[in-house]
Amino acid sequence: MAIISSNKQSQGPQEPKKTTTKRRPVEKDKSAEVNNLLQAEVVEIEEAKQEDSIRPQRFADYIGQKDLKDVLDIAIKAAKSRGEVLDHLLLYGPPGLGKTTMAMILASEMGVSCRITSAPALERPRDIMGLLVSLKPGDILFIDEIHRLSKMAEEILYPAMEDYRLDITVGRGAAAKTRSLPLDKYTLIGATTRAGALSSPLRDRFGLVQRLRFYEVPELTLIVIRSAQFLNTNVTDDGAEEIARRSRGTPRIANRLLKRVRDYAQVKEFKEISKQVADEALQLFQVDPCGLDWTDRKMLSVIIEQFNGGPVGLETIAAATGEDTQTIEEVYEPYLMQIGYLQRTPRGRTASAAAYKHMGFKPPTKQLSLLPE
Ligand code: ADE
Repeated sequence: MAIISSNKQSQGPQEPKKTTTKRRPVEKDKSAEVNNLLQAEVVEIEEAKQEDSIRPQRFADYIGQKDLKDVLDIAIKAAKSRGEVLDHLLLYGPPGLGKTTMAMILASEMGVSCRITSAPALERPRDIMGLLVSLKPGDILFIDEIHRLSKMAEEILYPAMEDYRLDITVGRGAAAKTRSLPLDKYTLIGATTRAGALSSPLRDRFGLVQRLRFYEVPELTLIVIRSAQFLNTNVTDDGAEEIARRSRGTPRIANRLLKRVRDYAQVKEFKEISKQVADEALQLFQVDPCGLDWTDRKMLSVIIEQFNGGPVGLETIAAATGEDTQTIEEVYEPYLMQIGYLQRTPRGRTASAAAYKHMGFKPPTKQLSLLPE
């Protein structure tokens, strides 16, 4: 299987826009701030490369998401036995749960190529048209953040998804004519953290709509043990479990924490990552025993200390933490809701009795009956 990211393609006349910022040489007169930003970008690129090397390549190596794997396994077998392409698939769920990995695995299992892009990179009609005409029979086109597609790109996709046809308008006004270009049959995999933000005509064109769930601690423990092998790092079972417990149900976070703990163990000259080493390192990085970081704790403390447990509006929480409302909604809140610390109500966010206890406060007795444990 070839994985072709539209990031790495050269830009021919029909080629889509590049999707990631490439590393540029640092000019001498750039300010320290710009240099720091570029450094951060380099670190991100390196981390993305490492993430790629750790990614499981086949279903057999993919830990967790059993229900999803069962559904996709049937879809693959059925498509293969009929000699057809896989149905278009929409994957949704919080970030870091493995949507891109799943698309790559599907391409491997189907023996086809995977083109990877993201909706913000498909600004102009020719970006998406270029990608569609470049697809070979059976190929997978993966569009991340598909809820951010422009209306124009969406309208190009409708016939391209339904009838494998590209409708091109030539000319303007009364003289405008529509020409249709047949496309090879392909599979579109859309990924989103906000399934509700997709228009219904787009959502309805996906034959399969599947959610990725947060991972259980035993699944994340196995992921940490597997990743440690790729990173040539010794980790004990309880060390891996400690990292897993603080990873917010998310493999991307588990792998990131593993790398930080590995650094700590190396600098402090520990020969392996034990539970105690993981605990010390994660305390240093201010990841608490539930995996909550500064922003999670600030959110809960604002609701509890300033607003008596809520309800508090999203904008207020965003202002208090310095995060934008979208990040709060898509990154922070899903996990806090999953562990029962936060509720979304029509009047705002409220903290549960369990959140009070975690933050070291006594839950208000009057509200206790209303709040889940
Ligand atoms: N690395 C990241 N996600 C993974 C998963 N689900 N299984 C195995 N390794 C992973």
